[in-house]
Formats: sequence, C-alpha cells, structure tokens
Amino acid sequence: MARIDKEGITVLGKTVEDSMNEQIKNELFSAYQYLSMAAYCESENLPGFAQWMRSQAQEETVHAMKFYDFVLERNGRVVLRAIDGPLVEFGTPLEVFERALEHEKKVTAQINDLYGVAAKENDYASQTFLQWFVTEQVEEEKNAGDVVETLKMVGDKSEALFLLDRELGQRRVEEQPAD
Ligand SMILES: [Fe+2]
Ligand SMILES: [Fe+2]
Repeated sequence: MARIDKEGITVLGKTVEDSMNEQIKNELFSAYQYLSMAAYCESENLPGFAQWMRSQAQEETVHAMKFYDFVLERNGRVVLRAIDGPLVEFGTPLEVFERALEHEKKVTAQINDLYGVAAKENDYASQTFLQWFVTEQVEEEKNAGDVVETLKMVGDKSEALFLLDRELGQRRVEEQPAD
C-alpha cells in the first residue's frame, strides 16, 4: 500500500521498497558475476569474450542504478545489502555462456516476482517502471542464448572460436541518453 508522508507526498510502500532494495543487490551481483566471467575469459586468452562480459557487467550496474534512482524518486530509502561471491571457475567458454543464460533466466523470474509484488500493492508507477525490465530480460536471455547456440556449432574448431572471439569483442555499451 502506498504511504502518504506528513507533507502529503506519496511514498513508496514498504513491501515494494524492500523488493526493490533486494533487486539493487541482484543487479549488482549480476555485474559481479559477469566481471568474474570476464576474468575467466581473459585467463583463457579470449579477450573478445572478456570484452563482451565487461560490457554486460557495465549494463548490470546501469540496471542497479535505475532501481536505486527510482526508489529515491519515490521518496523511498535505499538500503544496500551484502553481495554473494560469484562463480569463478568454468570448464569451457560454452559453460560460461550456459551459466550466463541460466543466470538471466533467474533474473527474469526475479523481475516477474517484483512485478507481482507491485501489482498486489496496487503500485501502478512501479509496474510502469518495471515494464522496461520485463522487455530487457527478453533481450538478455536472447543475447546469452544466441552465443550458447553459436558456441555449440563452433564445438572444438579453434579457428571458429578465434573468429567468434573477434566478433564478440566488438560489443560496446551504448551511451545512456540523459533524462
Ligand atoms: Fe540486469
Ligand atoms: Fe542481465
């Protein structure tokens, strides 16, 4: 339920606020996980894969900040939580991207749950805000899934892996338009 503070301003409800604080942590964990994957790719002499993962990590930080700023805009309180350690060892580049896809599916479920909380609380502003993330998750799962499929085709052909590394290395984070 939305709260009204003493100045008559609508304040983010406690339940939604709590879930958004949890999601700030989840997005920062995602960034941490992708940075760890980038480090693994560097150690495997795959700088293009590492660049792709670095860009992914940067995007996750942007996601965390979107939640952070939204909580503040709604006169809520941002309370940061402890971030778990990421996976650090992977068997193959394919495993890295399979884990990434698995992770994004988990995040999709988190966003859907959060949307459910906002709907239950009749918080329409949060539902509108969360729609961007619902769409983003479709893209996130597709991006990781596409690389998984390509890596399965690459198999153990080192020349194809080299070319894919070059291609993935083209990825850069787009400049965020100023509001
Ligand atoms: Fe994200
Ligand atoms: Fe993501």
